[in-house]
Parts: sequence; structure tokens; C-alpha cells
Amino acid sequence: MHNHTIPPQYTTMSREALRERVARRKRELGSRLVVLGHHYQSDDVASLADFVGDSLKLSQQAAALAGVEYVVFCGVHFMAESADVLSPGATVVLPHASAGCAMADMAEDEAVSRAIAEVASAGGGRAVPITYVNSTAAVKAATARAGGACCTSSNVRNVFAWALAPAGQGGAGADKIFAIPDENLGLNTAVAMGFGPADCVVYDPRQAYGGLDVEQIRAARFILWRGHCYVHQRFTADHVRAARQHRPGVRVMAHPECPREVVALADEAGSTEQIIRAVANSPDVRDWAIATESNLVNRLAKQHPDKCIRTLGDADALCIQMGRVDLPHLLWALDSIADGKPANVVHVPQAIADDARTALERMIAIP
Ligand code: 13P
Ligand code: SF4
Repeated sequence: MHNHTIPPQYTTMSREALRERVARRKRELGSRLVVLGHHYQSDDVASLADFVGDSLKLSQQAAALAGVEYVVFCGVHFMAESADVLSPGATVVLPHASAGCAMADMAEDEAVSRAIAEVASAGGGRAVPITYVNSTAAVKAATARAGGACCTSSNVRNVFAWALAPAGQGGAGADKIFAIPDENLGLNTAVAMGFGPADCVVYDPRQAYGGLDVEQIRAARFILWRGHCYVHQRFTADHVRAARQHRPGVRVMAHPECPREVVALADEAGSTEQIIRAVANSPDVRDWAIATESNLVNRLAKQHPDKCIRTLGDADALCIQMGRVDLPHLLWALDSIADGKPANVVHVPQAIADDARTALERMIAIP
């Protein structure tokens, strides 16, 4: 990706002027352009996107784009990479060059490839890697080469079930799953599927052989890469207990990137889309404590003014990297496209893109 810095004139414009000029640029570019936005974007940016969704919806959206010249991805780097991989005809622009994902940064592709080889050589049955989309395209490619697939927090259970199903029944025939890079998502999903923490071991990439011995790898049903999202990691069991104490009848819902003890104490767990649906489909529940990023939670609160909807713990939980995509950077991205010199183009090299696409398409094909 080209690393450009925003020209100073964008940062001194008023919010109204920025919004008006973004809308004008979008009208000018018309059907040549699609602006995609993740639920964790600010209200300002989300309200100017053509589609807002969670990781699954946005990758399905990117895969369905035809004839679009430019995708401006208001999200983080791995999402722009996936859009590039899934819509090869379009030029994908990430408005801020430093909008990365802290979790994706915890799984470096060479370390992942080495770990996959170590786990395979340990024996104890066939291990299939299942990689959360919050990962680099190179890690997705390594996943596909080892017979695995991607997942998102919306479909992770179905993808795990696919991995463990016999090959004769359309599955991947795995004896064990290597879940990369989110330890919490892997553990929460394993438990939701009826397995116990005793079926899981944690592979720490900072230690030789993941800090495990051969017997531990052989015996495990789930090997969990030691990575996490700092936005969700900060929610605690005490937050859940305090919410229940101070807000009797509160319904607690947690994103599965949260620690196991938070999900265990919550009333339900789900991806951002599942959280939005749960609130919409529960007219009788008036009080919600939600453990996920606060731009989404605060937007839900505005959309349901008759309800009390708050971030669990009552302090905002913000993804700094998502927040880097703001109105000035969005306008700058659109201006650069209109000038014929798109800034911050995200392009995945062909050899990586082909294998990463396989991992993403395997996921999209799983019902
Ligand atoms: P979902 O979009 O799958 O809910 O994941 C949340 C997230 O952390 C995105 O970075
Ligand atoms: Fe990455 Fe967490 Fe930010 Fe999502 S919320 S982009 S997982 S750091």
C-alpha cells in the first residue's frame, strides 16, 4: 500500500463542509464508486457509506460487486484486502494508511505457516486451520494451502462444523481445528459447540513450538492461536456482575471476541449483525448492556430511543484504528479518485490473492 499523508487543508474544514463535499463527490462518481463501511465506523462516516455491515456482510457485498471501478473501504486494512481479493476488477482504497487491526497484527504469515507445519508434523490426526477474517491476506492464503477456510464472527460455528464434518459429507474431515488468530473466538465457539476448555490448547507464537509439547498438540481438539482484540479484551466478568446489580433485568450481550468469562456470564453472544438483530427482535427487552465497540452500541441507542442501550462497563470501548477513517480522510480518498490518482490503494499480489480468495470463497460457500 502507498503510504500517503493527508494534505493539511482537509483537517481544517468544518464538519458540514466535509459532509457536503463527500456527498457531492459521491454524486459525481456515481455508479463507478461504492463506499463500504463497518459497523464500528463513526456515525458521520457510516451515514455516508452506501452499505454498512459486519465483516461477513461486507465480504459478501464485495464479492457481489460487478462493474464497480472503485471501492472506498471505511474499515481496516484486512477488510480492504478482502475486498480487493473478492472484487479483482475494482481499485480498493483505504482512506487512512494506518488503519490496521491490532488482532491481525498478532499473526504474522511466516509464523502462521511455521505453526501449521509444526501442528501437522505432531500427528494426532488431521488439523485444519480456520482463520478469522481479521487476518492478513497472506495468512488467509496459508490457510487455504493447508485445506482450511476463513470465518467471521457471524458464521464461525458453521465453519467449525464444516471443518469437523467428514469429507464424505461435504466437510473438511478434520480431527482438530487450528483457530487463528483470535483465542477468545476459538474458545467461545468450541464451548458453544459442546466442547470444554480441556479440549483446547493455546499456541503462543512468541514461544518455541507455541509453548506446547507434542503430546498436548496431539491430544487437543482445538489449538487456539494466542491473539486478541484489545477493544473486546477489556470487558470483564466484574462488568457483567455490576451491570446485573445496578440494572435489574438488564440483558447482557457480548461479541465472541470477548474473554470466555464475559461470554459465559452474558445472556447471549453474537457478531455485530447478530447484536443489531437481537435488539430489533426483542421489543420487550428495554435495557441492554452490550460488550462490543461503542460506535455501534451508541448508534443502536440512538436508533432505539425508547430503550436504554449502553456499552458494558459504561465507558466507551473504541477501536482507534477504525476511528482513523474520519470525514477528512474519506473526502481526501474521494478527491484522489476524482483526480485520477487514488491514494492508499490496497492491492494484494496475485499469488497471495488467488489462495486467499480460495479461503474466503470456501467460507462464503458454507451455508
Ligand atoms: P464482526 O464484523 O464480524 O462482528 O467483527 C467485529 C470486528 O472486530 C471487526 O473488526
Ligand atoms: Fe481489529 Fe478489534 Fe479494531 Fe476489530 S475492533 S479492527 S478486531 S482491533
